[in-house]
Amino acid sequence: MPTSETNRRKVSMPFGAGPRLCPGRFLALDEMKMVISMLAKNFDIDRVDTPDNQAPQERLTFTMAPVGLRLTLHRRQEYA
Ligand code: HEM
Repeated sequence: MPTSETNRRKVSMPFGAGPRLCPGRFLALDEMKMVISMLAKNFDIDRVDTPDNQAPQERLTFTMAPVGLRLTLHRRQEYA
């Protein structure tokens, strides 16, 4: 059965909904973009893998996290 547009939007509601909807959501989203841009600007990704080379599993606690995902970065040379 195809998923309706309404159901697709409800798949992820990290900031809640209704009268208790998170007032810090735009700050949080801006911070995420800043961290990702700073990482992308200053580091190269050398390696992304898992110990068994299978797709990482998701662990859902307070937030969702990948289990066993390894990421190796190295700082880019600064060009004058
Ligand atoms: C990734 C970051 C964040 C996530 C996932 C998140 C998530 C949430 C969620 C799910 C709620 C609703 C809780 C409920 O239903 O009772 C909430 C409420 C709230 N959040 Fe966030 N939040 C984040 C960042 C922030 C930031 C950066 C601020 C402030 C600078 C903030 C301030 C608040 C406040 C004050 C409430 C209570 C709103 C109320 O009860 O009326 N949050 N947040």
